[in-house]
Amino acid sequence: MDIASLIKNRASETYDLHRRYVNPQFVRVLEVIGFNRNYCTAHGARLIDEKGREVLDFLAGFGVFNIGRNHPLVARVLQDMLNCSGPSLVQMDVGVISGLLAEALAAIAPGDLEAVFFTNSGAEGVEGALKFARQATGRHKVVYCKRAFHGLTLGALSVNGNEEFRSRNEPLLPGCIPVPFNDLDALEAALSGRDVAAFIVEPIQGKGVFVPDDDYLPGVRRLCDTYGALFIADEVQTGFGRTGRMFAVNRYDVTPDLLVVSKALSGGYIPLGAVITKREIHSKVFDCMDRCFAHSNTFGQNDLAMAAGLATLHVIEQENLVERSARMGEYLMNGLKELAGRYELLHQIRGKGLMIGMQFGAPRSFTLNTGWKLLHKMNEELFCQMITIPLMEKHHILTQVAGHGLDTVKILPPLIIETADADRFLGAMDRVLKDAHRFPGSAWTTVKDLGLRTAKTA
Ligand SMILES: Cc1ncc(COP(=O)(O)O)c(C=O)c1O
Repeated sequence: MDIASLIKNRASETYDLHRRYVNPQFVRVLEVIGFNRNYCTAHGARLIDEKGREVLDFLAGFGVFNIGRNHPLVARVLQDMLNCSGPSLVQMDVGVISGLLAEALAAIAPGDLEAVFFTNSGAEGVEGALKFARQATGRHKVVYCKRAFHGLTLGALSVNGNEEFRSRNEPLLPGCIPVPFNDLDALEAALSGRDVAAFIVEPIQGKGVFVPDDDYLPGVRRLCDTYGALFIADEVQTGFGRTGRMFAVNRYDVTPDLLVVSKALSGGYIPLGAVITKREIHSKVFDCMDRCFAHSNTFGQNDLAMAAGLATLHVIEQENLVERSARMGEYLMNGLKELAGRYELLHQIRGKGLMIGMQFGAPRSFTLNTGWKLLHKMNEELFCQMITIPLMEKHHILTQVAGHGLDTVKILPPLIIETADADRFLGAMDRVLKDAHRFPGSAWTTVKDLGLRTAKTA
């Protein structure tokens, strides 16, 4: 079998294959917004499509490619690993490489977190953390935040604060209590019955990129200690340098009881995640030999994922990517704030490091405001497409809308971006914003037509 020829020969059928066998609705979305390019190769922060066009990737596979795409060191380590013909997944044995990755994770994890459970995804890590918390405390209730995103399996969905994901799945797990993010009084009220197993929170919320006040996470730590609840920090998205620190909790100088990581850990090559917890919590779950598999999975410790994890951590350290994320993030935030001062549709820039949200809102000028209102009346989700579509179509930059009904566009570039990439993005944003501030104008007509087309084909 020649996989490269197979891919090349059948590339023209990509969208038909997905329409027929995978997810036709997603294919329609890509076609409608003009994101249906056939990408052939990728390096670092760049994707190359079949026409040879280079797209600047400011999405990084939803935060998977912190070290950039196809990093040569991780690729070489994976090839070496394959050449070793190693004894992966013996199951009734333990491997050296998973021990080494666990050691490396414990070394960078905050405080005394050192017991590692490997997973295949972020949601699986959240499931594990919820189970560990329930077993370790003997309680079943879990407090979570409104707008939280922790994955889409049923347990993770039960602590997901977004109606669009929860609906059609209820009833979900009992005893899951929502509280507003960044509200310590509400958290205290929810924990004060002393019957809650855990509070789960993203240190910086991914949907909409909401950053808490500086005293929030230290306050969470204090309240969890006071009421005997465990503190689960979901750093699936914020981990491994994304926010300008190795983990976002480092910024607030707090140690959670359980830390969930995934996404960037394997350099984007292989599904991988981990729950890193205190030994005393782990020991309460795995408390005797009969319970050595009290929670387990089949593929968690596979050698290729472990090798990719070790190589990725090496790259993050060697290339100073945490520091670079902080530096480039500040550069981009400053540039975007300058644009927000000049363009009235752009209200606020939120974020830390290279996790940045651009919040749009109603403009003051009368005509532009009329456009804003008309568009929102037609469809609450449309406005951000006026930013993401031209960024892709005219400037070849891939970005995403940050959540339903939020009017926020989000960027999550690889941490390896250079000043020239940031300048290219800021220049493109300037031009896109200029077009968006002309009402009536072609930018508004394009999204209005898009709204009409989607309404007709819904
Ligand atoms: C904070 C957070 N937790 C959990 C998840 C779920 O991860 P996965 O998609 O790997 O299941 C995500 C995914 O975006 C996430 O951002």
